[in-house]
Parts: sequence; C-alpha cells; structure tokens
Amino acid sequence: MAFSGKNPTCTLLFLLSLSLLALHTLLHHPRRPLPSLSAAAFLSSASNSTVAAYLRHLTLRPHLAGTPLSLSAALFVHSHFLSLGLAARIANFSALLSYPSHSSLSAHFGNGSAAEIPLSDAGGVVPPYHAYSPSGAAYGAAVFLNFGRERDYAALAAQGVGVRGCVGLLRRGGGLSRHEAVANAAARGVAAVLMFTEGGFKEGVERGTVMEGVGDPLTPGWAGGERLEADDPRVAGRFPGVPSMPVSEAAAERILGSLDRARLPSAWRESFKSGDRRCWGVGPGPTMLNFTYKGEQTMATIHNVFAVIRGSEEADRYVLLGNHRDAWTYGAVDPNSGTAALLDIARRFALLVRSGWSPRRTIVLCSWDAEEFGMIGSTEWVEQNLLNLGSKAVAYFNVDCAVQGPGLFVSATPQLDDLLVEVTKQVKDPDSENAYVYERWAAANGGVNQQIQRLSRVDSDFAPFLQHAGIASIDMYFGIDFPVYHTAFDSYDWMVNFGDPLFHRHVTVTGIWGLVALRLADDPILPFNYLSYSAELQEYKNALNALMGESISLDPLAAAIEDFTAAANEADGEIKKLRADGPALLRRRALNDRLMLAERGFLDPEGLPGREWFKHLVYGPRGDPESEIEFFPGVSGKRKGGDEEAKIRHEIWRVSRAIRRAASALRGGLT
Ligand SMILES: *[C@@H]1O[C@H](CO)[C@@H](O)[C@H](O)[C@H]1NC(C)=O
Ligand SMILES: *[C@@H]1O[C@H](CO)[C@@H](O)[C@H](O)[C@H]1NC(C)=O
Ligand SMILES: *[C@@H]1O[C@H](CO)[C@@H](O)[C@H](O)[C@H]1NC(C)=O
Ligand SMILES: *[C@@H]1O[C@H](CO)[C@@H](O)[C@H](O)[C@H]1NC(C)=O
Repeated sequence: MAFSGKNPTCTLLFLLSLSLLALHTLLHHPRRPLPSLSAAAFLSSASNSTVAAYLRHLTLRPHLAGTPLSLSAALFVHSHFLSLGLAARIANFSALLSYPSHSSLSAHFGNGSAAEIPLSDAGGVVPPYHAYSPSGAAYGAAVFLNFGRERDYAALAAQGVGVRGCVGLLRRGGGLSRHEAVANAAARGVAAVLMFTEGGFKEGVERGTVMEGVGDPLTPGWAGGERLEADDPRVAGRFPGVPSMPVSEAAAERILGSLDRARLPSAWRESFKSGDRRCWGVGPGPTMLNFTYKGEQTMATIHNVFAVIRGSEEADRYVLLGNHRDAWTYGAVDPNSGTAALLDIARRFALLVRSGWSPRRTIVLCSWDAEEFGMIGSTEWVEQNLLNLGSKAVAYFNVDCAVQGPGLFVSATPQLDDLLVEVTKQVKDPDSENAYVYERWAAANGGVNQQIQRLSRVDSDFAPFLQHAGIASIDMYFGIDFPVYHTAFDSYDWMVNFGDPLFHRHVTVTGIWGLVALRLADDPILPFNYLSYSAELQEYKNALNALMGESISLDPLAAAIEDFTAAANEADGEIKKLRADGPALLRRRALNDRLMLAERGFLDPEGLPGREWFKHLVYGPRGDPESEIEFFPGVSGKRKGGDEEAKIRHEIWRVSRAIRRAASALRGGLT
C-alpha cells in the first residue's frame, strides 16, 4: 500500500479514515495500544518492494570502507535522501584502515605429502583477511587451540601439549573477540593464528577486524587533527603481536583431520557439534604449516551520511537512527538489510513530511562508514560531537543486520523496555498470520522481560553512543545467526533464498524502528521508564551478591540503588501528573531533560580500568572476557597483582557513585 500526501484534502481524508480505522481497532482489540495519527500513517506506508529494491541496488557490488565503490554507496544513500526532499549531508573523516596484499598457506603432512591450502572464498571481493593483523610469516607445527580461552590452554597443558612456536588453529567463539583470541595466543608464544567459523558455508571465510577497542587507532578519544605515530604504544598496543588469518571450515577440517589426536582434551571432543569432528586431532603436528601474510595499513577517507528532519518545537533535541553501510563483501545481511530499512524509513518519513507532519524533536538518520574495522565512522563522529550529543541527544537506535533469519532480538538500556513492548504490539509479525510481533516474541522465551538483552557488547555502532557518550540506546535485528557472516556469500541471492524471501521481516524491522523513533520524537513527555532500570540494577546487585558471597560488602551499591529507585518513583509520579495536567511547556521540557540526562550519570570521566575510553560503568566490555557477568564491567575485570579485594571494593564504590549521579540527574535539583 502506498499513499501520496501531496493533496491536502486527500491527506485530511486519509488521516480521518486512519483515525476511524484506529478507533475500529481500539474497539475490537481493546488491549492493543492505539497508534497516533502519524504512527498509523507511517504503518500504512509499509512496502516490501521498495526495501527489496534498495537492498538490490546496495548489494550489486562490494563496498569495503575506503574504496571507490564504498564512496559510490555513500553517494547513493545521499542522493536517495536528497531525492526525498530531506536535508542531507556527507561528513568525511580520514582514518587508518588496513587491507591485505598477499597471503599463502601450505601444509606438509606427516605422510610426506604437501598441499597449498586455498585461502580465498571467491573472486571479485577482498580476499579473506584480518584487518590490522601485522604482516609476518610463520613455519611451525599445527596445533588446535579450541576457542583459545584460558581454560582451553589449561586443558592443553594438562595433556602435556605445548603451543610455543606453533601455528594455532582457533575456532571462533567462546565469548572471545577476534582480538582477544589472537592476543591470548600470542601471549602464549603461538607464532601465528588461523581462525575458522563453525556451522557456516564450508567454503566461506569470515573476515573481520582484530583491532582492540573502537575508532581510528591514530586518534583514540578525539576526532581528526592530531594523529599519533603508528609506533606509539597507544596505537601498536591495539593490534595483536602475531599475524592471523581467517580460513574456511573446509580448510580447518583438512588440517585438523591430519593432526595427532592422542591428546585431544575430552571436554572439547564432547563439544563438537557433528560426529565426524571426533576425528579432529590437537597436535602439535605432525602436520607443519607454512603461513605468510602481508598487508598494509593506510590512511583512507570514510564517509558518514546524514538526513535530518528538523523538529518543529524542540529542534535542539535529537533522536538518532543509525546503521553502518560499509561491508566486507556485498553485505546483503551485514549491514545493508539495515541500510535498506533506513532508506525505507527515510521514504516513509518523507511521505509524512509531505502530508504536513513535522516531528516535535529533530530526527537524524545516520549511515555510518568503516564499522567493520572497529566502529570507526560512528566513533569519530560521536567524539567530534560529544558535547552537543551529551546535552541534546534523547536516544540512539541502531540497526546493523536488520534481517539474518527469523525471530526478533532486541537489546536496550532498560528505560526503553516499555516503549519496545508497546511498539511491538503495533507491528505485524512477519512469520505468522494475524499476530503482532509482541505475541511471538513474548511467547518465545518465558516472557518479554527475559527477552530484552543489554548492551555491554562492543559489536556495532551503539557502542560509542552508549558506552562513551551515555546516550540511551537500542540495538535490534531479526534472526540470531547466519551462515554467510562476513563471507563472499553474503549476497542479495542469499537474502532472497534464505534470509527473507518476501522481505516481510525487513518491513517488520522498519516498522519497529520507525514507530519507536516517532514516539521518541513526538511524545510530549519522553517515553522513558526508569523503574525498569532500577529493577534491573537490583537484579545485578543480587547476582553480584550470589557471586561474591559475604567477602565483599555491597552496602554502598544497595544504598545507591535505593536512592535511584526513589528518584525513579518520583519521576514516574511526576510524569503521570504532567500527563494529566495537559500542556505545561517548560515544566515538561525540564522533566524531559532530566529523563534524557539520567543515563549520562552512569558515565565516569576516568572510564573502565585499563579501558578508559569506555566511560559507562553499568554497560561496557568486560575486563575478563570469560567473566560471567555482563554488567558493571569494571567490577568483573581481571586484576593482576595487588590487593584484589580492595580493587573490587573500589569498583563497587565507583558504580555506586555512578548510580547516585544518575539518581541525582533524574531528580534534577541541587543538594
Ligand atoms: C565529503 O566527500 C564527498 C565525496 O567526495 C563530497 O561530495 C562531500 O562534499 C564531502 N563533504 C564535506 C563536508 O566536505
Ligand atoms: C597424506 O595425509 C593427508 C592429510 O591427512 C591426506 O590428505 C593425503 O591424502 C595423504 N597422502 C597420502 C599420499 O597418503
Ligand atoms: C614458506 O613459504 C614461503 C612463501 O611461499 C617460502 O618462501 C618459504 O621457503 C617456505 N618455507 C618453508 C620452510 O617451506
Ligand atoms: C511482497 O509481499 C508480497 C505478499 O506476500 C509478495 O507477493 C511479493 O512477492 C513480495 N515482494 C518482494 C519483492 O519480495
């Protein structure tokens, strides 16, 4: 369905019929919230054919960041925004990116035969590589490292397997980032790392970055201008010390099948998914591997593209919607399913604008570059705009891979939970007749409260917004995993054949993304509920208590959460009262500012221990990747030497102070 808002009479009739429709809906589905007029108009402009056409166009060619084809993709997005009559611009940064120039791998088997192991998964796209891997060569016995976790090395050591000087094979996962896995191996003297991904296309190879942290490595914490030298420890320290390379599962099987299997730890053997893996060996040897990788790090220009729909009443408050555009290969799932959704939101918002609507607050659509190298486009932009974002950004809503399969997966900061629940009750489920997303989603796994994940991960562009700037955030996708991730097979064909044949899931993602944005932009009082946050903090405290036992007092934390809960209750009462009172512009604005700024309270200028760029003390990357807790990242950190308990106590105090800051921001008054 489509509607044209060019004729004002038509528009009026259209909106009238929509409100009748909405009334009808309300009478017949009393439990479903009534969409506003703009929301109803937005929902009625859904189209799977436009979103499919955008995806088709975006994925005709690969568009790796920093390449001419990547610029073409940026210009396409920019001209799309302009053609809709939206204000649009391209903001450019120069950043250190990394590209492969040559690689080779040969195996010398125990029976005397030798073979070249193919490293490529297709022509026409960048060969598989790990961005920021150092160049280097290694000749050594092959050894299997499982996921490369500490417990994996312990299991190897228990079997008497040494790994020093070997070429290690790692399966990707186990909670470790690529950087952590390679750095762990390097720390144990492994000479080079080959990494494979289980369960994907056998011949596909998963590209990826091995840089630690986010942003241009030459400008850590600021955007452009001054640049560190490449040999500065702050730069060099972010790259692993040994070369690494992704390989296909087929290549890994060939090597692992040739290794000595006498000492394969039994725990690993049991964890293999399929039976034929039980014949995998661990080595080291007898197979010897000869590996070389040569790459170059080079300054490249990256392009962030924006469309802005100016707010009519509070133009200086921003609701940001973002997706990255750069892809390792064709990027049909990652990230251009999200880009197609963003372009369709632009189309649908432009229709609303033409029918006379303008948002109360300013909406900014953001198309990021160089996310695959380490969230570089978004990070540089957030660093450059830190003060204005900190004082004016209401929320950031990220969609990276919009569709990778069935089922909704959402992560959010907790004050946005209620809004997500309300909106998913208004958007149709793509995979069932006559059901709304909420019903399937809530049914899937013991209630919706269990369904919303939190944002401690550092795997997409929400990281700088939440973890550096303290902006309330959401990240959403359909499907949990997909077999062509970062391979040459992430193409439009895969999407049409497997991911979303009729593009209904794309439409659903676009619906949720757009409706949440409309609520954040248009609701007179921001749809934030901090009582969800206080309940969540309380759970974290209980979990911590169970983990730490009596040894460490959580009293300061308990008191801070109590204070926060009181502030959240006061704010809740005030919200209800102001809603009932009707217009009271300045009072509303003052309350909204407190609701917006409370999230910033969780920031600490000193950041996390050893990871100072990450300022958020509730959500952020764990210091110990194998830690079980996914909150209070400073508390869960691995501490070497000194008084362990004193350091944990100190971190608990820091979190407690952060929670009190958030409570104080929510109250808004001075002490
Ligand atoms: C960024 O680069 C693009 C492409 O070269 C150019 O069209 C655009 O004007 C640049 N933007 C700015 C603000 O300089
Ligand atoms: C030698 O071993 C490798 C790896 O197990 C195998 O692929 C190859 O076929 C063997 N060659 C001979 C001649 O047995
Ligand atoms: C390893 O491969 C490189 C590059 O192909 C070659 O120059 C070198 O001689 C090989 N080393 C061994 C020990 O086979
Ligand atoms: C859009 O959905 C309709 C109805 O399911 C379907 O017939 C059509 O093929 C879809 N279009 C695309 C491009 O997938």
